[in-house]
Amino acid sequence: MSIYLPKVFQYPLLMLSGLLVNGFSLAPESAQSHVNIEFKNGDQIAKTLSLSELNVLAPALSLKVFEIHERAERSYRAFPARPVFDKVFGKEWEKAQEIVFTSIDGYQPSTPVAKFLSHDAYFAFAHEDGTPFTLTNTLQNNETAQLGPLYLIWDNINSTALLEAGASDMPWQVIRVELKFVAPFSDMSPPGHASAEAQRRFMHFRKYCMACHAVNGEGGAKAPELNYPTSVVAKEIPNRGKVAEELIAYLKAMSLSKRAPEKLRENISTPPKSHR
Ligand code: HEC
Repeated sequence: MSIYLPKVFQYPLLMLSGLLVNGFSLAPESAQSHVNIEFKNGDQIAKTLSLSELNVLAPALSLKVFEIHERAERSYRAFPARPVFDKVFGKEWEKAQEIVFTSIDGYQPSTPVAKFLSHDAYFAFAHEDGTPFTLTNTLQNNETAQLGPLYLIWDNINSTALLEAGASDMPWQVIRVELKFVAPFSDMSPPGHASAEAQRRFMHFRKYCMACHAVNGEGGAKAPELNYPTSVVAKEIPNRGKVAEELIAYLKAMSLSKRAPEKLRENISTPPKSHR
């Protein structure tokens, strides 16, 4: 991830840059304020922009949302997504199929363009109240998540459909925004003659797994590739189907037998960072 500067380089740079650039207040807590965001149109880099350059293209505003990860209302400073796309890509972006986001850790979710046309998305870069740009993820063991440089949020206070969509399409630590005009994911798709059932299975993978895992090199880089060089299904567990079924049944049973939090052993409060 070439654009990502390790933190040790970011802080001194931020101090040198001062708190005001072109009248745009760089919140002191967003230590990644000067990190550039890469905007790609297919394989071409359309623009590489700092937050203050983004602010010139699509001035920041304040937006209150129901922060689903914290189960509370929160106000963010944010750039409206459609004006950003208009200025960066031109109006043609509306005819693209998907927008793929890449986070610092390789998380790479994809959102249909149609969702950006029917709902209001924003790129948040700070909390309105100036507190550190993090959140406490109640959906993931109360882990603290660093949100900068950009966090994709939706105006769910004015849309019940978005409220019901929960925490979907909300990547944080976004450093790349990529427009896809041709149907993306051809390498990870089932072959053209695949049955409707095979397509349905693939859609499950797209929805639940692809943001972290790649298949044939396509998808996220946050988790291991699942088909290359060795397919995960080739890692043998004897009697795999039955074992998988019984493991799921075990986990379901345990969901009805949860320990009180204060009785948990200590290591459980520091889960691996594998899921968000
Ligand atoms: C939020 C990120 C994330 C999502 C979403 C996710 N995984 Fe994973 N997965 C991981 C990480 C990280 C690991 C590696 C864990 C480790 O090695 O400790 C992993 C490991 C795996 C492995 C073992 C891979 C190996 O080489 O041993 C499989 C199989 C797997 N995941 C399948 C899936 C499937 C199927 C889905 C969708 C239903 C999914 N994962 C969704 C992050 C994710």
